Amino acid sequence: MHADLFGTHANGAVLPLADGAAVLRGFALRDEAALLAALRAVTARAPPRRMLTPGGRRMSVWMSNCGELGWISDRHGYRYAPRDPLDDTPWPRMPASFLSLAARAAARAGFPGFLPDACLINRYEAGTRLSLHQDRDERDFAAPIVSVSLGLPALFLFGGMRRGDRPQRVALEHGDVVVWGGASRLRYHGVLPLQPGIHPALGACRVNLTLRKAG
Ligand code: SIN
Ligand code: FE2
Repeated sequence: MHADLFGTHANGAVLPLADGAAVLRGFALRDEAALLAALRAVTARAPPRRMLTPGGRRMSVWMSNCGELGWISDRHGYRYAPRDPLDDTPWPRMPASFLSLAARAAARAGFPGFLPDACLINRYEAGTRLSLHQDRDERDFAAPIVSVSLGLPALFLFGGMRRGDRPQRVALEHGDVVVWGGASRLRYHGVLPLQPGIHPALGACRVNLTLRKAG
């Protein structure tokens, strides 16, 4: 394994984070063109928006979804819904490139047979962060989470089972994929404020695809 020319990460490396959790360096790079084209098509139909928290504040992350179910937040709480509340139409279909990448990444991390029905699309701009949280709105926790980083780099926080557990800081770059499931499925995680920059593929933002079996 040799360091790639564009970053500090050895693409193809598997970096274990905890039991059931790993970073797959550069795993999405081979699919980059298909992923970016599919992302553009999805967000043309279901534009990212800043959702309202149950407490009535705007989230700083811009969000959209594709797949049978989409994660939403509003005055009534957090949940999965089959339709986009902006226009009451079904979320765009899950692109085949997303499904295939997610299944291969999950299998590589020890979770064969992953078939996500929901993909949350998070867009971060400079200064945007995502505070520590658990992914726990899914119907059951047997399936892992597959999280694909695109665009600007970010520092990902990967914590423990309690909010107060000291998180690991993991630098994620364009094309990295993080998988967490099994004993790590409910670990707290988050993203530190995005540093400003310009990425050749996505400009001044970072996009994260979070693929889940929600329903
Ligand atoms: C998330 O937890 O929903 C997204 C994590 C990330 O952006 O890396
Ligand atoms: Fe999350």
